[in-house]
Amino acid sequence: MAAILDPISLQSADTARSDAARPDAARAAAERIAREMARRRTFGIIAHPDAGKTTLTEKLLLFSGAIQFAGTVKARKSRRHATSDWMEIEKQRGISVASSVMQFDYRGRVVNLLDTPGHQDFSEDTYRVLTAVDSALMVIDAAKGVEEQTIKLLNVCRMRSTPILTFMNKMDRETRDPVALLEEVESVLKIQCAPVTWPIGVGKSFRGVYHLLRDEILLFTAGEDRADQEFETVKGIDNPRLAGMFPREIEQLKAEVALVRSALHPFDLAAFLDGTQTPVFFGSAVNNFGVREILNALIEWAPAPRARDATLRGVVPGEPQFSGFVFKIQANMDPAHRDRIAFLRVCSGRFERGMKIRHLRIGREIKVNNVVTFMASSREQIEEAYAGDIIGLPNHGNMQIGDSFSEGEALQFTGIPYFAPDFFRSVRIRNPIKVKQLHKGLQQLGEEGAVQVYKPALGGDLILGAVGVLQFEVVASRLANEYGVDAVFEGTPISCARWVTGEDKRMLTEFENTLAHNIAHDAAGNLAYLAPNGVNLQLTRERWPKLSFHETREHAVNPV
Ligand code: G4P
Repeated sequence: MAAILDPISLQSADTARSDAARPDAARAAAERIAREMARRRTFGIIAHPDAGKTTLTEKLLLFSGAIQFAGTVKARKSRRHATSDWMEIEKQRGISVASSVMQFDYRGRVVNLLDTPGHQDFSEDTYRVLTAVDSALMVIDAAKGVEEQTIKLLNVCRMRSTPILTFMNKMDRETRDPVALLEEVESVLKIQCAPVTWPIGVGKSFRGVYHLLRDEILLFTAGEDRADQEFETVKGIDNPRLAGMFPREIEQLKAEVALVRSALHPFDLAAFLDGTQTPVFFGSAVNNFGVREILNALIEWAPAPRARDATLRGVVPGEPQFSGFVFKIQANMDPAHRDRIAFLRVCSGRFERGMKIRHLRIGREIKVNNVVTFMASSREQIEEAYAGDIIGLPNHGNMQIGDSFSEGEALQFTGIPYFAPDFFRSVRIRNPIKVKQLHKGLQQLGEEGAVQVYKPALGGDLILGAVGVLQFEVVASRLANEYGVDAVFEGTPISCARWVTGEDKRMLTEFENTLAHNIAHDAAGNLAYLAPNGVNLQLTRERWPKLSFHETREHAVNPV
């Protein structure tokens, strides 16, 4: 018999049922958010070029099963090179300008790995990626020790007390003395080292590593083709097998381990989590050796998504409501469409495709139907994301670095700074008719964080600032290709810039008038002091002790 359906009573019965079910549904949703969030590990790899960052990234993906063959990351890089003209520059130089995100599962965790551009010329992007991670993996070439770019990147990690794991790479080569390496890390990078593994020999006589916490020796065998195989282990440093295998090295190892245990710090999880101590692993990425240990350490020790500061309150990742911020804009992935992808770090709650989120800066709700994630080997549409995940939002220019998104609350995240540039050029155009296009282009490139644009107080050519000189080539190339502007960049006598603030408005005006030759305003109209050298900057600081000179500028406080 066909049932007679009363739409009205049906509706109210449904509502009653869903009301009763709601607390359960809300609890289930909250539990799911907490569970998923706790599974996330979001980290960046930092290294000086050539230390082995690409190789190690690839091996991490290989060990996790995210890719099947070594070479995928490199291949993907070259495919990406082909996607736009300005990236020809990186193709020519064989480097990676743009950072990218890779997500993979490993031992029940969802790992988000954020790559940082790896040439000696690097951009603000490199720094800013580190504002979106919860931990970092530092790769050091053990033959070279601490290098310039590592120092810069570590200073950025220090701003948020980011926990750092260290991988001493290339132990299959003649390297520096391991104790000296750790001393260098401690003195130059100002972070305590706690060796977790210790090398047995180096270069041709590299036999493996001793795991200080597990009292286990991992035997080294060269070769790239053993990603899914385990390296042989021998339990116990006093195991008689070892004396038979390499009698000379084992005696030296025992002496070194005794020294290490007495002179260096033992691993302390709390010190690692507050960013004051780094556990150190020795290995050889190209030979897959030590990769599993570092991946396991990431899974076991690195923190789940952490709370974030916003202007009104702190945001905890397990909160039910979605929130997040944009830390990077990748423009012109497809030059035919002038599309941009905003990389958003989810800070709390659950993101679902099709949901409406509030774009705080422009004060509008937007419906997000098109959202991508970045798997190891491709770019895919996603349905949901949780705190710690990075999602890509395609847009046509209405999203900027530092923009915050929420389910309604006015949560403007902080801690996504602009960094004072280290290199400067004045910019002139060959064809003055194009001045409008030049300004428009620079405005947009400034918004993407590709370059800082300064307008001198006394007029004259605009000044561009970048943290790596390659950025000028990128900007010149993009101005020509996208805006039809033939710009000429010339050297300037400026060597550093600082944003200047002060309580006393009259004093600021006096400062601007007295030092007008060195005064400029950035794209957002903020006051900047452009110094010809460090001594000048120091003297100016001393003469104006009531003013503050900043190396970074917070997006949230001074939105562009
Ligand atoms: P990067 O991303 O940090 O710039 O470094 P990348 O991984 O590209 O590695 C730089 C060079 O160091 C590469 O050699 C790579 O093979 C080598 N390398 C990485 N890990 C190890 C290691 O554990 N031992 C040794 N001996 N070498 C290592 P390349 O000749 O520049 O490139 P390729 O032709 O080998 O790819």
